[in-house]
Amino acid sequence: MTSPFYITTPIYYVNDKPHIGHAYTTLACDMIARFKRLDGFEVKFITGTDEHGQKIAKAAATRGIDPQAFVDEISARFQDLHSLLNLTNTDFMRTTESRHKTAAQALWQQLEASGNIYLGEYAGWYAVRDEAFYQEDELVNGKAPTGAEVEWLKESSYFFRLSAWQQPLLDYFAKNPEAIQPESRRNEVLRFIESGLKDLSISRRTLKWGVPVPTDADHVMYVWLDALTNYLTGLGYPHPDFKNYWPQAIHVVGKDILRFHCVYWPAFLMAAKIQPPKTVFAHGWWTVEGEKMSKSLNNVVDPVQIVETYGSDALRYFLLRDLSFGQDGDFSQSAFINRLNNDLANAYGNLCQRVLSFIYKNTDQKIVAPGAFNSADQSLLAMPQELLPTLRKFIDNFQLHRYGEAVWQIIAEANRYVDTQKPWALKQEDPNRMHTVLYTLAELIRQVAILTQPLVPLASAKILTLLQVDNRSFIALDQAIKPGLSITEPLPLFAKYST
Ligand code: MSP
Repeated sequence: MTSPFYITTPIYYVNDKPHIGHAYTTLACDMIARFKRLDGFEVKFITGTDEHGQKIAKAAATRGIDPQAFVDEISARFQDLHSLLNLTNTDFMRTTESRHKTAAQALWQQLEASGNIYLGEYAGWYAVRDEAFYQEDELVNGKAPTGAEVEWLKESSYFFRLSAWQQPLLDYFAKNPEAIQPESRRNEVLRFIESGLKDLSISRRTLKWGVPVPTDADHVMYVWLDALTNYLTGLGYPHPDFKNYWPQAIHVVGKDILRFHCVYWPAFLMAAKIQPPKTVFAHGWWTVEGEKMSKSLNNVVDPVQIVETYGSDALRYFLLRDLSFGQDGDFSQSAFINRLNNDLANAYGNLCQRVLSFIYKNTDQKIVAPGAFNSADQSLLAMPQELLPTLRKFIDNFQLHRYGEAVWQIIAEANRYVDTQKPWALKQEDPNRMHTVLYTLAELIRQVAILTQPLVPLASAKILTLLQVDNRSFIALDQAIKPGLSITEPLPLFAKYST
């Protein structure tokens, strides 16, 4: 029986078209999902769209169209982007689907049955952009700490007894240090909980665009309670089989939505007698050429344009290699192009091209049987398998940027090996040795291409297809190339761009 592995992205608001920040979270999850699949896990990887709430209702009204028609249109754009990004998600959740309404209402009923919901009146600040309630003392110059505009809200509302969960949450996080990562984010959450939790308004009466409260049709559920439940909907909740994957869940989120995922969500779950997720990992934010990305600055990086110009491998490689996962970073055109040229075209692309086209042109398009390996051959050939346990650690510890760094050290080593072994000179001097060197290199390229699949899946697939590799999972790392294998003409894997 293979082990289950469950990873999620936040579900994206459909008030606007997708940008590079959305692509980032999703690509990071896709890299982890791909790695785990190659490593033998049974992976569920879910992403989707968050389609209810005041923000979406307002955006639809501004466009003068019915909210359902509006969310259908924008959700489709996210799904288009996802196929463009070459994602391997196993499901796409939309909160307007009936399976989700069923799950959200079932969770509500659990909360009510356990005595965690009461009817009261909310009077306080609300930021539509964040879909969040703020206390008076949190406001900065009359705005939310995020800079969002706030409005005064006064209406009848159901409340969740969040205050009762302050100590249980602190106890839970004390016992489960891996539950919030990285550590700096964990500390931020702990400080917030320690500062005191107030009961949370979880329904809106003046809004119609939401999941109806099951016991009171005058109210719709607070959009974050609705949205967070998608992580259970995707596993079939309320059907008990959702436990096949739960609580082994990993939620990857941006640092801005920590409070919802690390305070409200585990409290809702505990109150419904469901264990909190295994880990919430919060990554950092991208700026663009040193500035915050915003519509008013007109500097929003469009992932569709980037993929159409440079390909999805290029975007994926840059985002997941350039920035330490967890930190903030800057997207600049020059850093992007430099990485593509240096790491992809000059290092990886060049290694494959010089080796495979040499074989194609000089050894009758065949990978000829090697003679005895010397220590240089052996140590090069051992590198990919020796690295695998370290790569596992990088993935499990969310050090995604270190993955590419480590694999590219092997690529650099292989390029040095080509330079010192000089197969072109061996062609006259010692053809047998030339065959051994070329076999070593082709075999190394096969193994490296298996390892690079989570990071540059399209290019890796091209290499593995050229080498006629059927089993591409990590377990096949030691299934060496059969001598005599014919190859077709290798085409360059990566383009070079002028800066
Ligand atoms: N709908 C909520 C999530 C609900 S999950 C139950 C939401 N949606 S969002 O579309 O606004 O943001 C989704 C993700 O995109 C967040 O994790 C956010 O951090 C990420 N990013 C948005 N802009 C970003 C950058 N500039 N850089 C990196 N990630 C950013 O919040």
